[in-house]
Order: sequence, then structure tokens, then C-alpha cells
Amino acid sequence: MRYILLSVLFVPFTLYADELAKMNTMLDARRASPALLEEGIAAGEERAAVCMFCHGETGNSRRDNIPNLAAQNAKYMLKQFEMFATGQRDNSFMREQAKKLNSEDRVNIALFFSSQKAKPRSEISPDQTTKGSKIFMAQCSGCHGKDGHGNEMIPRIASQPARYLNKTLDIYRTEPEKRSASPMLGIVSTLSKADQVTVTVYLSSLR
Ligand code: HEC
Ligand code: HEC
Repeated sequence: MRYILLSVLFVPFTLYADELAKMNTMLDARRASPALLEEGIAAGEERAAVCMFCHGETGNSRRDNIPNLAAQNAKYMLKQFEMFATGQRDNSFMREQAKKLNSEDRVNIALFFSSQKAKPRSEISPDQTTKGSKIFMAQCSGCHGKDGHGNEMIPRIASQPARYLNKTLDIYRTEPEKRSASPMLGIVSTLSKADQVTVTVYLSSLR
């Protein structure tokens, strides 16, 4: 009985994992051929019309509380679509959006936005740069990279709006169930609020 119950619970997650692996393979296949890549980016741009309303035409978001998708890492985005759709990342609007996209749409949209250029958000003083960089290099760069660009599975956080970064770090602090299973839950517990503000202002100024 217990076994049956566990199987019922685990089957959906196994299916999602397979689906995600398939999308990662589709993405790699498109990247392996310049012609297929170009075709995917063009299809993604067309399919992303509705996304641009909030995330901007080139993926540089229109509002400070919405993330940029420009230059975001493609496989990280595929994982987020999956997490939104399953509710592991809890945002009701993005959940509806993600559910409307089939695997091919997700791959093409991820290729389109990741191919766009992110614009730095703000100019900051040399003093703010020194202070922010110190916190970033000590506590964040080990995973997010020295330039904040992340890698395939770790998000780019450079040039995100400071307000979105702060809102997100607050979610890890106070509503961890909204972004479950994240290494960030441990990170925020040792990051002071003052350092959080300093490092997010710094990040928004990066290219
Ligand atoms: C009404 C505004 C709106 C629209 C339209 C919209 N989004 Fe979003 N999107 C958001 C917000 C707000 C968030 C942040 C959610 C959170 O805090 O978890 C987000 C988050 C995301 C993320 C996660 C980014 C990250 O840095 O982790 C991805 C990927 C994404 N959206 C893709 C899309 C795609 C693709 C579409 C179109 C199919 C779309 N969005 C349409 C508002 C929007
Ligand atoms: C141990 C590795 C690790 C370290 C160290 C780390 N991060 Fe992260 N971070 C991640 C991973 C993995 C994710 C993506 C998973 C998720 O959704 O939480 C992430 C996600 C984020 C996000 C959400 C990005 C988005 O687009 O929604 C922000 C903001 C962030 N990290 C900021 C920071 C800051 C600031 C620091 C330093 C104080 C830091 N991280 C240190 C691994 C790390």
C-alpha cells in the first residue's frame, strides 16, 4: 500500500525530469547547427511576443520587479519553466504562462532570450562598487561566477534590476516554499539585510 502511494507521488516528478532532459537535448541539437539555431531563435522570437509585454522586446524587463531574460542561461530557463509548471517555483501568473508552452516553444524561447544582450540597469559610485564587489566576491561569485553571468544551470544575476533581486532574496528568506530546494535558502541566512541591499545595487550595475 505504502509502495503504491509512493509510486503515485513519484511518477509525475520522474516524468517531468524526463521531459526536461529531452528539452535539454533538443536545445543542444539546435545549438550544434548554425542553421537550426537561427531557425529556433526566429521561432522563439515570434512565440515570445506575449512575454515581451513584461520582459521587454530584447528581454530587458520593462519593470523593476520583473527579471531580465536577456542573456539569461538557456538551460536555467528551461528548468524554471518546469518548476513554474509543477509549482516548485510558486508564481501563479508564470505558472499559467509556462503551462501554455510546449517543449518546442520552451526551447526556442530560451534560445531567443539567451541570445539577446543585457543592459546594465544603473550607474553607481566607485565606493558602492568597492563595497558591493567585496560582498559578491566573498559570498556569491563561487557559484554565480566572477562576472555574475552564472553557467548553464546557475542563473545570471548581473544587470538584473536591484528591486527584483531584493524581492527574490526576500522570498528565499521569508517564503522559502515559493522557491523550494534551492541552495539560496542557506545563503540568505548568513547574508545581512544591509549587505543584501549593497550587493544587489552592485549587481544591477554589471554588464
Ligand atoms: C505580466 C507580466 C509577465 C509576462 C507577460 C511574462 N512574465 Fe515571466 N515573469 C514575470 C515575473 C513577475 C517573474 C518573476 C516571478 C517570481 O518572482 O518568481 C517572471 C519570471 C520569469 C522567468 C524566471 C526568470 C529568472 O530569472 O529566474 C522566466 C524564465 C520567465 N518569466 C519567462 C517568461 C516567458 C517565456 C513568458 C512568455 C511566455 C513570460 N515570462 C511572460 C512576469 C511576466
Ligand atoms: C552554492 C552556490 C550559490 C551561492 C554561493 C550563491 N548562489 Fe544564488 N543561486 C544559486 C542557484 C543554484 C540558483 C538557482 C536556483 C534557484 O532557483 O534558487 C541561485 C539563484 C539566485 C537568485 C535568483 C535569480 C533569479 O533570476 O531569480 C539570486 C537573486 C541569487 N541567487 C543571488 C545570490 C547572491 C546575491 C549570492 C551571494 C550573497 C548568491 N546568490 C550565492 C546558487 C548559489
